[in-house]
Amino acid sequence: MVEIPTKEQKYFIIDFDSTFTKVEAMDELGKISLQGNPKREDILREIHQVTELAMNGDISFSEALQRRVDLLKAHKDHLPELIAVLSGKVSDSFERNRDFLNEFADSILIISSGFREFIVPIVTALGIKPENVYANTFLFDDSGNIIGFDAENPLAKDKGKPELMRKLNLQGDVYVIGDGYTDYEIKEAGLANRFYAFTENVERGKVIANADHITPSLDEFLFVNKLPASLSYPKNRIKVLLLENIHPKAKELFQEQGFTVEMVKGALDEDELAERIRDVSVLGIRSKTQVTKKVLENANKLMCVGAFCIGTNQIDLKACQERGIVAFNAPYSNTRSVVELAIGEMIILMRQIVEKSNKMHRGEWDKSAIGSYEIRGKKLGLVGYGNIGTQLSVVAEALGMKVYYYDLVEKLALGNAQRCKTLHELLEICDVITLHTDGRKENVNLIGAKEFERMKDGVIFLNLSRGHIVDVPALVNAVKSGKVAGAAVDVFPYEPKTNNEEFINELRGLPNVLLTPHIGGSTEEAQENIANFVPGKLLDFINKGNTFGSVNFPNIQLPDLNDAHRMIHIHRNVPGILAQINSILANYHINIRGQYLNTREDVGYVITDIDKAYNKEVITELKNIAHTIKFRMLY
Ligand SMILES: NC(=O)c1ccc[n+]([C@@H]2O[C@H](COP(=O)([O-])OP(=O)(O)OC[C@H]3O[C@@H](n4cnc5c(N)ncnc54)[C@H](O)[C@@H]3O)[C@@H](O)[C@H]2O)c1
Repeated sequence: MVEIPTKEQKYFIIDFDSTFTKVEAMDELGKISLQGNPKREDILREIHQVTELAMNGDISFSEALQRRVDLLKAHKDHLPELIAVLSGKVSDSFERNRDFLNEFADSILIISSGFREFIVPIVTALGIKPENVYANTFLFDDSGNIIGFDAENPLAKDKGKPELMRKLNLQGDVYVIGDGYTDYEIKEAGLANRFYAFTENVERGKVIANADHITPSLDEFLFVNKLPASLSYPKNRIKVLLLENIHPKAKELFQEQGFTVEMVKGALDEDELAERIRDVSVLGIRSKTQVTKKVLENANKLMCVGAFCIGTNQIDLKACQERGIVAFNAPYSNTRSVVELAIGEMIILMRQIVEKSNKMHRGEWDKSAIGSYEIRGKKLGLVGYGNIGTQLSVVAEALGMKVYYYDLVEKLALGNAQRCKTLHELLEICDVITLHTDGRKENVNLIGAKEFERMKDGVIFLNLSRGHIVDVPALVNAVKSGKVAGAAVDVFPYEPKTNNEEFINELRGLPNVLLTPHIGGSTEEAQENIANFVPGKLLDFINKGNTFGSVNFPNIQLPDLNDAHRMIHIHRNVPGILAQINSILANYHINIRGQYLNTREDVGYVITDIDKAYNKEVITELKNIAHTIKFRMLY
């Protein structure tokens, strides 16, 4: 049976000296074998020169190899020491991408003109398969002195790497990563799709000039080849601290992406948090933890804060903004829960269920239809047509209600809902009135005696927004007078701080009044929604730079990165920053693929996507622009 390949086969050909490791192994071997030799420095210099000539393609390779072996005067016994030295000199980006080397072990071939005797122990320790190592082998005399190499091995000859590749006859796409001219020769011979000049350790002009792409690290190679980003991004170094018993789903989401997560059951006080925040990059809180200036002074690594709730008063948003820390919340994760409770309460109140149920508990059977109504066909008045108001509008209409709304801002009417021009207009025509405005201070006592006066007799009244929006004594009078036939109140001007504190309020004991302890949005689903939503926002900011939905930062919704590098620059909102960024990039001949800018109050946010590998100097210059608050590269 013919096997049909499921995905395109790819081979990654990786050089050893100065690529897989930071050094040239033969130079290191010389340092060991020539110990005590009075001419050690001169010989080492000569070995190095011969290596450079060969790497640049300036002398014949086999000649260079023999000259170096002769100069080394090395012995078998020097090899264990050499291996120990080399294992401490593996290139940083190879060290941090062990996952990639392991996962793609079948596709990775080490092809080197170095020697198997020291290459195999180093590369296999990072997951490479020994049978995938192609290199030279030493020749020893009877006393163990290294006197030469197997001259028949193609890798001992000029243009040895292409010759070996021809023999291997790999079927699939071939990508070569190396720092030397001999690596480029594979591509030159038409045996590789692309050649990547690896410049983490050394930069050779002739090699760079011939490269398809300059890769300053293995991360860059993985990135441009769309290899799984999680394998190339050192996320385990990013610490997430989640306080106040946040739903475990949040932990799961961060861990799935490789972050280190620490959970704390309760809130932390200012001093404790100021101490624990030092090595934290992402903080998750609910309503009790105060993120103050003092806490932020110690938060040198903090990138973003997630409020796993609606309110953000507990966070000093301005201080966060000044430090380039982006804050998010969960503005509509519990919207549906509030809507469902409001619908349920309307029905219960229109049917006088509170009274009927209370009577039943006292043993009274009072079967009667008097004063009980369906909600179908009734006029529902929504004061505030935001997240909750609009959602309630849709659900109520589906149940046959006629929806009217009043909002300070002109909002699109959903379905058949009708907009009222004034609050009074709404109060006068509706059978059920429900409040869904935000808690801004201008809304204190928005509904008082005069407003109740305007309402129809026997109106049903709901407040699931904020306690201070209703003048409670006025509501009590309206219930007692019969103006309000039934009320449901979930929020109060003063609410007990803990479950042990008594709830004291004039509404207690009134007929057909449903009281609930601020649980409009408190459902398991809402908690889970919050635990999904907030990490989503935080991860989108960390991984892509998106600030859409942030409560203290300019909102930018960015396209996904495609074969580009993303620079994130946060600065004080002063003129001329964008021009400075662009002039630095222009000086380095870096082409801008896309750029996005937004400002808010005192902070400016610029995202620049560039198409070329960047170098450290560009980054240093960008970081040094005056008024920069934070700078980071995404890939
Ligand atoms: N009971 C609960 O557990 C619970 C849960 C979630 C939200 N809430 C509260 O519900 C309220 C609404 O939440 P949301 O997510 O829909 O908010 P939102 O910000 O999306 O909508 C509020 C709307 O009210 C409008 N508004 C403000 N003042 C007004 C006024 N004086 N007259 C008319 N319109 C006015 C705004 O323009 C806005 O459209 C908020 O007060 C919120 O705190 C309570």
